[in-house]
Amino acid sequence: MVKSEFKRRRRELMRMMGPGSIAILPTAPQLIRNRDVHYPYRPDSDFYYLTGFPEPEAVLVLIPGRKQAEYILFNRERDPVKEQWDGAMAGQEGAVDEYGADDSFPIGDLDDILPRMLEQCERIFYIMGCNAKFDKRLSEWINAIRCEARSGVQGPVEIIALDHYLHEMRLYKSRSELKVMRQAARISAKAHKRVMQVCKAGLWEYQLEAEFVRECAHQGAKSQAYPPIVGAGINACTLHYIDNMDKVADKQMLLIDAGCEVDCYASDITRTYPVNGSFSKPQRELYELVLAAQEAAIAKVKPGNHWNDPHDAAVRTITRGLIKLGILKGTLAKLVREEKYKAFFPHRTGHWIGMDVHDVGDYKVDGTWRLLEPGMVLTIEPGIYIPAGSKGVAKKWWNIGIRIEDDVAVTKDGCEVLTKDIVKTVAEIEAIMAA
Ligand code: GLY
Ligand code: MN
Ligand code: MN
Repeated sequence: MVKSEFKRRRRELMRMMGPGSIAILPTAPQLIRNRDVHYPYRPDSDFYYLTGFPEPEAVLVLIPGRKQAEYILFNRERDPVKEQWDGAMAGQEGAVDEYGADDSFPIGDLDDILPRMLEQCERIFYIMGCNAKFDKRLSEWINAIRCEARSGVQGPVEIIALDHYLHEMRLYKSRSELKVMRQAARISAKAHKRVMQVCKAGLWEYQLEAEFVRECAHQGAKSQAYPPIVGAGINACTLHYIDNMDKVADKQMLLIDAGCEVDCYASDITRTYPVNGSFSKPQRELYELVLAAQEAAIAKVKPGNHWNDPHDAAVRTITRGLIKLGILKGTLAKLVREEKYKAFFPHRTGHWIGMDVHDVGDYKVDGTWRLLEPGMVLTIEPGIYIPAGSKGVAKKWWNIGIRIEDDVAVTKDGCEVLTKDIVKTVAEIEAIMAA
C-alpha cells in the first residue's frame, strides 16, 4: 500500500474528529499458541489501516490540531539483544522516518505520557470492548484525571465510538485498496486452479489444503486470510469445516473455501467439484442450481440496489430449483415466506470483505438495508448442503455440499467480479480436471 494512502486516511479521520479530540488505538496483542510458541503475528486491521505499522506492542494516538505533533506512535524501543532473536524493530526513529509519525515514544512510557495528552482533550475516540486489558488502562487514566478535578484539571467529557467512523471509511475501498484486493483474488484463483488440477481420490483433505497454500506462496502471498476449508462428501456440509483431516474418495464432491491475504487484504473464494473430475447427474443438477443462484445474485450487485437484493435473488432461485428437483414441496411464495429453503441453504449470501474477511461496515442504516455504492466489496456465496439422513430427501442427493463464492466490487454502473479468473461452469471444471 502506498504510504500517502495511510496519511490520507489519518487526515480524513482527524477532519471528522475535529479539534479538542484524541483517538487512541492499540494494535493486536501477540498471542501464545503454547508455552514459548506464538501464533504468527497479524496487526489489528483498524490500526494497520491508519498506520501501515506491522510490529506488535504499538499504540496510535491522533490529536487533530495539536501543534507539536498530531500523529503520535508509541512503539517498542530498539534492543540489539531482542533484535538478534526476533528481527529488526523500527524504534522511535523508524516510526517517524519510515511510518510518517510526527512523534514517537517508547511503548513503556505510555502510562506517563498518554494521561497528560488526555487531560488536554474533551473527547476520546476509542473502540471499547475489543481489548479488555487496554479498556482497563484507559479507565484508570480517566479516573486519575477525575481525581485531579479539584486542582482545576478538566479532562475528557465524552467517549465516542471510533469504530463507527473508521468502519464507515473502511467500507468504501479506494483505487489502491481495490488494486491489492485484485492481486489477492488473482493469486487465490491460481491456487484454486492448482488444487482442481491435482485433486484425485486417495489424497487427504490437508494435502489439498497444503497444495493451495503452496501455490499462494509460489505466487507471492505468504498468508491466508482465514484457515482453508477443505471438505469432501459429508464434510462439505459443515459450513466452516477446518479440520481437513479425511481422505477424499471417488464419487464425492469436494468443497474448498480458501483465500490468501495480501498486505492485510483478504480474498475469499469457494469452488466445489467432483473429486474424480466428472459430475454425476445429481451432482450436476444441484451444482447448476447453486451456480444459477450465484449468477442471479451477482446480477443484483449494482449501485441503487440494497444489501439484501442479492440474497433475495439467491433465495428465490434456490427455492424454485429445489421445488423442480422434488426436494422441496409447495409453492414458491409459501416456501420463501416460511423460510423452508433454510434446511438446505442455512446461511446468508455474503458479507463485506476487505482487510477482514468478514469485513466491517453496517449492513443496515436507520433500520433498513443499506444501498450498494461504488467501492463497496462483498462476497456472493450461495450454497446447498444435504447431509446423509436428510428427512424426506431422496438418497441420491445425500452427502452433497456445494458452495460457490466470489468477491465482487460495486462499480459506477454495476460490478466487477474480482475473482473471475477461476472457472465455475460444469464444462470448464471438467475440462481443467481432465487435462
Ligand atoms: N470463508 C468464510 C466465509 O466464506 O465466509
Ligand atoms: Mn465468505
Ligand atoms: Mn469463504
